[in-house]
Amino acid sequence: MRIIRTAYEMQQTVLALRAQGRRIGLVPTMGFLHAGHLSLIRLARERSDVIILSLFVNPTQFGPREDLAKYPRDFDRDAALCHAAGVDILFAPEGADLYAPDASVWVVEEKLAAGLCGAARPGHFRGVCTVVVKLFNLCLPQIAVFGEKDAQQLRVIRRLVRDLNFPVEIIPGPIIREPDGLALSSRNVFLSAEERRQALVLRRALDEAERLFRAGARDAEALRSALRLIIGQVPAAKVDYIAVVDDDTLAPVQTLDQPALVALAVYIGQTRLIDNTVLKP
Ligand code: PAF
Repeated sequence: MRIIRTAYEMQQTVLALRAQGRRIGLVPTMGFLHAGHLSLIRLARERSDVIILSLFVNPTQFGPREDLAKYPRDFDRDAALCHAAGVDILFAPEGADLYAPDASVWVVEEKLAAGLCGAARPGHFRGVCTVVVKLFNLCLPQIAVFGEKDAQQLRVIRRLVRDLNFPVEIIPGPIIREPDGLALSSRNVFLSAEERRQALVLRRALDEAERLFRAGARDAEALRSALRLIIGQVPAAKVDYIAVVDDDTLAPVQTLDQPALVALAVYIGQTRLIDNTVLKP
């Protein structure tokens, strides 16, 4: 596995690979890898012959009061996991190499990014879109894999690719869960044992949404109230949002007669967790 630290070397390397006709798969990450990331690598492996995993804790997608400084990092462990998983190139640039100090061009998606995490974290998707465009330009992938846990991010990036005509196929990676249902996330490491137990309320709430839906419930507000009640019973949980939105447009829905995304963002203590499910009539 080759480790590349600069944008210039990354682009030169991939230009040579593309000239040889190689098919490039990109797995963009912020590191502190877990089994969810490894499943994205496997998906990339099935569809490409060179896998680039980018590892970059992107400062521009964190708000001033968010956890950029304490975001978990362990380069040696990540590099060992990438090596074992068959990654060909680990691209781990420095912040200063990706962003000029006077950078003044940003990529903004104006519709799908407005609600949910976009409303709760102003500027977040501007940072995500900008860094993803940079990664596409530096890694020149034919395919890129993004996890379904970040449901809004996945939809925003698909729109970005569509509206800016990127020749990149976006592959969704299913949510990977612990055996007890907790969705894997790099931020889970911040949970104490007791918070970890209470965090299971996200999956419990989504299970209830699926159960109610199967039983014929179609009123979105009633569904939200039921989920609020379940989450409210857990002392460490503070709801950031409970959203029931159109799976395609992310606009709030009243009736569940089209595929709907049920998305949760909940603080467990100081740690903000997200999870989701799609309800299809
Ligand atoms: O999902 C993530 O880890 C990040 O948002 C991404 C896509 C790597 C951009 O920094």
